[in-house]
Amino acid sequence: MPKLRLKRFAANPAADPAPIALPFEKDGLAMARRAISAWPGYAPTPLRRLSDLAAELGLEAIIYKDESTRFGLGSFKPLGGAYAVSRLLAREITAATGETAPDLFSPRHAAIAKGLTVTAATDGNHGRSVAWGARMFGCRCVIFVCASVSEGRKDAIAAYGAEIREADGSYDDAVRLAAKTAQDEGWHVIPDTSDGEIIDAPRDVTQGYMLMADEALSHWPLAEPPSHVFLQAGVGGMAAASCARLWQAMGADKPVIVIVEPDQCACWYESLTAQKPVAVTGEIDSVMAGLACGEVSMVAWQVLHKGADFMLTLSDEAAPVMMRYLAGKGGDDRPVVAGESGIAGLAGAVAAAQDPAARAALGLGPNSRILVFGSEGATDPVTYQHIVGKTPQEVLD
Ligand SMILES: Cc1ncc(COP(=O)(O)O)c(C=O)c1O
Repeated sequence: MPKLRLKRFAANPAADPAPIALPFEKDGLAMARRAISAWPGYAPTPLRRLSDLAAELGLEAIIYKDESTRFGLGSFKPLGGAYAVSRLLAREITAATGETAPDLFSPRHAAIAKGLTVTAATDGNHGRSVAWGARMFGCRCVIFVCASVSEGRKDAIAAYGAEIREADGSYDDAVRLAAKTAQDEGWHVIPDTSDGEIIDAPRDVTQGYMLMADEALSHWPLAEPPSHVFLQAGVGGMAAASCARLWQAMGADKPVIVIVEPDQCACWYESLTAQKPVAVTGEIDSVMAGLACGEVSMVAWQVLHKGADFMLTLSDEAAPVMMRYLAGKGGDDRPVVAGESGIAGLAGAVAAAQDPAARAALGLGPNSRILVFGSEGATDPVTYQHIVGKTPQEVLD
């Protein structure tokens, strides 16, 4: 069993399980489910049981939802960015034709789609999702990548026909540049984060992400529901969507929600501690590239400021250690290919279960049923091979 160390651990002082008004449309999840499940290639991703790891940690179960197969993109992200592209296009077609539920795949609407340019900033996966959605619906796409994005990730975005533009600075700087360029050029920006001003697209992104926890609940393999969920956070959209879905389904009995971040870019840890959004600046790069964000999304804040129960941080070494463990051992006796950002929730759960104080505070023990989202596979195969010592295919063979 890997030995991992917590860097920081704290309880959210404002945590309150009483359900709150969520910042989503009333039928937001139902709409997302209907739309996304009709896309070519849709299939719910598998839940893998990590039985040996759970036994070694003295827990009832660890269930890992493996997003590595999602739409062939290798991460959960198409549920968000591509879905937001589809909703933007639907709104534009409705405005132009008066049709209320337009068929986005109809050749009748091709000219409207072709006339739209969508844009986004990315640290990898979100841009790939927006580019993939733009190609599926026939829109033009320009993606701003922040300085830390690897060549492999840029190539993967360009493969869907998107134009790539490089932005100096951090992810948060790239987000601002994409928004400004969209305004100047008359493009449509699809951010996965909200500063409180741009609302529609980040809300659509987050509503789409809710399908991931929704699938986990629909296919949950145990008699009792999850007791703890460890959620990795960048800007917090994925964590907020998952927390919101669990809140909708289970009300005040929702599982204990733990937010997991790399220590140097722990904007959720800082913000929840301060009980207001706080930006983290400086050297925030992380091997967990998708989590290297210094500013929380205001859409996510509305959910997590009360919905998150605890937060913890990890050092960068935790991700490679867990990736190698899953590549060798895996779940249900099968190896699992997990990427650097995707593994963070599981790494956080292992570190918390091994830390006596955190274990006690979280109430982890033989009745604990942990849910984690393996939110990406080998989205950058070169980095994966470098870390694990094998290609993703060699791991699976
Ligand atoms: C694989 C992966 N997991 C988790 C996240 C975190 O999502 P969010 O930024 O919505 O918190 C990201 C973000 O890019 C990601 O790429």
